[in-house]
Amino acid sequence: MFNTQAGQSTPIEVTPAATRPARRRRIIVALVGASGSILGIRTLIALRRLNIETHLIISRWAEATVKYETDYTIPNIRALADHVYSIHDMSAPIASGSFRVDGMIVVPCSVKTLAAINAGICDDLICRAADVVLKERRKLVLAVRETPLSSIHLQNMLSVTQAGAIIFPPVPAFYIKPSCVDDLVDHSVGRMLDLFDLDTGDFERWEGWKKDGQ
Ligand SMILES: Cc1cc2nc3c(=O)[nH]c(=O)nc-3n(C[C@H](O)[C@H](O)[C@H](O)COP(=O)(O)O)c2cc1C
Repeated sequence: MFNTQAGQSTPIEVTPAATRPARRRRIIVALVGASGSILGIRTLIALRRLNIETHLIISRWAEATVKYETDYTIPNIRALADHVYSIHDMSAPIASGSFRVDGMIVVPCSVKTLAAINAGICDDLICRAADVVLKERRKLVLAVRETPLSSIHLQNMLSVTQAGAIIFPPVPAFYIKPSCVDDLVDHSVGRMLDLFDLDTGDFERWEGWKKDGQ
């Protein structure tokens, strides 16, 4: 390849894609202030086990729900990720589409963050990163947790889906006959990561009716 700028014809070194070292798959994980912070934590643990490079952002209200709902500390959670950013850091690599990522998960996702992403309001790094993922036509999964749902929530979910996002409400799968909350969490995390073609291998999949005693 030649650099033709200003009439020059100096050769530019281009490493063929086949000889470049393959990079690890990268996923942005955002925890925001909806109930179910354990879902975000267990997502980070599953991605670590799958050797996925994680880029983590935690909102102020996620910190509050983590503290209220779990025994994890914020430093514990940050230690699960490869890279951690302040929600105010608009200079982070993930704020730009030129930084290649394989997708983003907001888990759990509040209706406030859903609304901001749908409106394209990029006033914090979570919404900016989500906006970038959508504009680059990459995968964005929003584990929206709220009930019941108003028409505002439903319209925001429809509109952001039309823009390319996937709404993944973490609804319990009673057909797995869960013996504890952990079973439901594993199932939700596993089904969410299925959307990225990642198999956690630690939840039961539906394989048709089981006969008695099986
Ligand atoms: C304990 C607790 C639980 C909450 N649960 C939810 C929830 O399940 N869904 C939701 O949309 N908002 C919930 N909220 C409200 C959000 O935290 C609030 O709207 C906040 O502004 C969200 O901001 P963020 O998305 O930037 O974290 C909860 C707040 C607290 C303190």
